[in-house]
Amino acid sequence: MSDDAENNQKPWRVTALTLFPEMFPGPLGHSLAGKALEAGLWSLEALDIRGFASDKHRTVDDAPFGGGAGMVMRADVVDAAIEVAPPVGPLVYLTPRGVPLTQARAKALAAGPGVTLLCGRYEGVDQRVLDARDVEEISIGDFVLSGGEAAALIILDVCVRLLPGVMGGAESLDEESFENGLLEYPHYTRPRVWSGMEPPGVLLSGDHGRVAAWRREQSEAATRLRRPDLWATYARKTARREP
Ligand code: ADE
Repeated sequence: MSDDAENNQKPWRVTALTLFPEMFPGPLGHSLAGKALEAGLWSLEALDIRGFASDKHRTVDDAPFGGGAGMVMRADVVDAAIEVAPPVGPLVYLTPRGVPLTQARAKALAAGPGVTLLCGRYEGVDQRVLDARDVEEISIGDFVLSGGEAAALIILDVCVRLLPGVMGGAESLDEESFENGLLEYPHYTRPRVWSGMEPPGVLLSGDHGRVAAWRREQSEAATRLRRPDLWATYARKTARREP
């Protein structure tokens, strides 16, 4: 962590609206993100949505209009929580119905003043509050979590490591997966022989040009095989053909 970042920067400000505030910072209280939190590079406030329920039972959900399984988080309760959250950065609701998270969106969020994350439970949040508050809906993938908290922690992990001063070797950010539309190449380190296996010889050659060319080939091959969706875009942009 550089002194510069530690001393001069306003923290990237996060508010999480959740029924489980004790889930924050969770894993982000450790390692890189935890150190950055301690150093004041980012700040985190978890607001308990239940604190905004108005009845004596502190009800936050109700049965869906139209019938069906599960419960829906009430618009009035969620709205009251949003009202007291500091208006810093976009208001993001985590939902499998959202636009898929990308590295590019995370970069843009990290470049801003912060983010407010609305975590749903049960079947989700009454749509009217999402419409009224101009909420951005983000999904972390095509699967269903039991609530938005784990998704919020993932978005924060992705963003916090991009904040200035958080990562030591900032150049390692330039080469990682998705930076150039490709998956990253594989890595090798000591011991030189492990379990009878050696690293690819080119990596020991000291020839930076050949190393770079090999890594690019590996990136392209993995992307073509594992992520035809990314490969299609990359191939179009670089006029690559199927081999
Ligand atoms: N909440 C439940 N599932 C989710 C997902 N896949 N992405 C974001 N938030 C969610």
